[in-house]
Amino acid sequence: MAARSVDLPSAFLADVDAACGPGGLITDPALTAGQGIDWTGRFRAAPPVVARPNSVEAVAAVVVAASVHGVALVPQGGNTGLVGGSVPLDGEVVVDLRRMDAITDLDLLGGQATAGAGVTIAGLQAAARSIGWAYGVDWAARDTATVGGSVATDAGGLRFVRHGGTRRQLLGVEAVLGSGEVVRHLPGVEKDNTGYDLAALLCGSEGTLGVITAARVRFVAPSGPLATALVALDDVDHAVLAASQLRRSAAGLEAVELMLAAGLDLVCHSTGAARPFAAPVPVVLLIEVSDPADPVGALAASVGGLGGVLDSVVASDGLRRAQLWRYREDHTEVIGRLGPPHKFDVTLPAPELATFVTDAPRIVASVAPHAATWCFGHAADGNVHVNVTGLPPDDDAVADAVFAEVAARGGSISAEHGIGRAKRRWIHLARSPGDLAAMRAVKRALDPHGICNPAVLLP
Ligand code: FAD
Ligand code: MLT
Ligand code: ZN
Repeated sequence: MAARSVDLPSAFLADVDAACGPGGLITDPALTAGQGIDWTGRFRAAPPVVARPNSVEAVAAVVVAASVHGVALVPQGGNTGLVGGSVPLDGEVVVDLRRMDAITDLDLLGGQATAGAGVTIAGLQAAARSIGWAYGVDWAARDTATVGGSVATDAGGLRFVRHGGTRRQLLGVEAVLGSGEVVRHLPGVEKDNTGYDLAALLCGSEGTLGVITAARVRFVAPSGPLATALVALDDVDHAVLAASQLRRSAAGLEAVELMLAAGLDLVCHSTGAARPFAAPVPVVLLIEVSDPADPVGALAASVGGLGGVLDSVVASDGLRRAQLWRYREDHTEVIGRLGPPHKFDVTLPAPELATFVTDAPRIVASVAPHAATWCFGHAADGNVHVNVTGLPPDDDAVADAVFAEVAARGGSISAEHGIGRAKRRWIHLARSPGDLAAMRAVKRALDPHGICNPAVLLP
C-alpha cells in the first residue's frame, strides 16, 4: 500500500521535543523505518517521525501540539496489529507508547492492576502470576503486543471461549482524547455503574478517539492442571459440532482451535516440526481443558463423546503441551513467510461456520484463481481467519467476495483484529447507516480536529 510523506511544521517538532524530553522525538529514518511497516509487510509507509512520550502529560502535550498545527497522529504499541491501523501511510506522526510500561497498584485481594499502555501482554500476564492470579487474554504476539494496542483493538485471542476478550477484562482507562482532554477512571472496584462506560467506548476504537495511556484490568483465577489434545476429525462439520458440544459439556474448557490439513502441512514444512499424526488428516482441533484432579481424564471424557474423530494426541506436561500449541500458533508466522497475506478475520453464526470454511477457497478462487487460501481460527467463537497469499497488496476483489459472503451469512467482517485501514471500505457490511452516523458523532465530539488516526476505521 502506497505511502505519502508530509512536511511537518518545525514549531510542532519543537513542541513534541520539549514534551517528550531526551530521546523522545526520533526523526532519523534509519531508526524509524520499522515503525512504518506493519507486521504483515502489506502496509509500508516512509520512515515516520516518532514521538515517544513517557507520561500522560507528555502525551497530552503532543496531542495539543498536533491539534494546534493540524498534524495527524497514529498511536502505536507493539505494531503487531494485522489490519494496517498502526502504520502512518499518510505522513502521520507515530505516537509510540512503549515507554509507558509501568504496572502499578497491583491488588492481590481484588485481583486487579493498572498497566501503562506500553506494558506487553506477557508482562501483564507475569504480573498477574506474581500475585497468584492470571490475565485472561493471550495470543501468539504476547511478547510484543501492548496493553494499549490490545485495548484499542479489543483483542480476542486463544482463551476467548474461557474468559472473553480484552473488553471483558477492562475496569477503566486513562487516555488523552483528541480534544486534548485527559480522561482517567482507573477504579479499584469490580462493580461501578457511574455513567457512560468510557473504557468500553475506547476499547475497539483503534486510536481514532484518542491515545490510551493506561488501563485498569481485572485478573482471573489461574487455570488448574491442564491437558491439551490435537484431535483429528474427518471434516469441518464435525469440528464445528465438536466445538459446540465441548462448550456445552466440558466444564473446564480452555480453548478450541481449528486447523486444516494445508495449514498444518505448511507449519511442519516451514518449521521442521514433526507431523502430529501418522497419516494425513483433513481437520484438526486443538482442545485444552483444565481439571483440578484429572485433566487428562476430563479431556478424554470430552473427546470420547465427539463424532468423526480419526486420531488424537494428548499432552499434560508443560513442554509437550507447548509443542502442541506451536502447531496452531505458528500459522500466522509461516503464512507470512509466503509473502504479505491478506487477512480476513471473520465470525460466522455457528450454523454457517462449517459451510463457510469449506467454501472459502472456492470463493477466493472465483476472483483470484492463482491465490492460495489458508483457514484457521478460534472454532469455539465462530471466528475463522481466512488468509490469502499471492495477491498484490492493493487487491480488493478477494475482500469484496469474502466479505460479501460473510455478510450474506449474517457474520461479522472483523471478529478481533479491528477494521484498521484494511477493512474500512467494507464496514458498511457490518454496521448500519445509523450505527456509522453515531460513531461519526462520537468521533467529532472526542476528536474535534480529526487528528487521531484519521485514515482508520470510519470511511
Ligand atoms: P499496534 O499494532 O501498535 O496497534 C494496533 C491498533 O491500535 C492501531 O490502530 C493503533 O493505532 C492502535 N493503538 C495502539 N496503541 C494504542 C494506544 N495506546 N492508544 C490508542 N490506540 C492505540 N489479535 C487477536 O485479537 N487475537 C489473536 O489471536 C491474535 N494473534 C496474533 C498473533 C500474531 C503472531 C500477531 C502478529 C498478531 C495477532 N493479533 C491477534 C493481532 C492483535 O491485534 C495485536 O497483536 C494486538 O492487539 C495489537 O497490539 P499492539 O500493541 O501491537 O498494537
Ligand atoms: C491468530 O488467531 O493466530 C491470530 O488472530 C493471528 C492471525 O490471524 O494470523
Ligand atoms: Zn485470532
